Amino acid sequence: MTEQKATNVTWHEHRVDRDSRCKLAGHKGAVLWFTGLSACGKSTIANEVDHLLHKQGKRTYVLDGDNIRMGLNKNLGFSAEDRAENIRRIGEVARLFADSGQLTLTAFISPYKADRDQVRELLEPGQFVEVYVNASLETCEARDPKGLYKKARAGEIKGFTGIDDPYEAPENPELTLDSDNKGINKLAAEVVSWLDSQGYLSL
Ligand code: ADX
Repeated sequence: MTEQKATNVTWHEHRVDRDSRCKLAGHKGAVLWFTGLSACGKSTIANEVDHLLHKQGKRTYVLDGDNIRMGLNKNLGFSAEDRAENIRRIGEVARLFADSGQLTLTAFISPYKADRDQVRELLEPGQFVEVYVNASLETCEARDPKGLYKKARAGEIKGFTGIDDPYEAPENPELTLDSDNKGINKLAAEVVSWLDSQGYLSL
């Protein structure tokens, strides 16, 4: 639990609430939490889903690992503590986005189950959609778009997820994507049709 340091602060209810924002958008607000190894396709799939939904006139936004780590979370590294704080902050930001009536897509390795579960707790039931982008280490290592697996194998990066740092796969994700065998477009379409079938794309 993160300590509440500030005292004498009061929670303010907004005059425009989430329901009215969702009404304006014509769909629900939620967080689509993509998790998986580096290079499993999280970010690319999230961006494709974002694109498909945007074309349908939905309000969406992507929060993406490397980008957030260059701004909001630039003071965090990759220790278990820093990864937990990374995910905690993203969870809080994603909650604000969902509260604004947007379909929010996050793409972070988020290797620890407890950190992801904490974000789930932060949101209302049904608002947290865990999407496990399942690609084997072999697949990710063969892709290696940033050459990071190669560096990790050579000992140039320590504590790299999947090599010498853990990845705890989700046990009960809302959705699992088979990124070993299916391409980005097919997987993005699977996500959109799941959202539709579960009522997220309407009120
Ligand atoms: S998380 O573990 O805290 O969720 P996050 O998704 O924000 O990680 O950042 C992962 C990205 O940081 C990777 O895609 C990779 O580009 C880069 N990276 C640098 N060092 C590491 C490392 N030790 N482990 C994993 N990813 C790393």
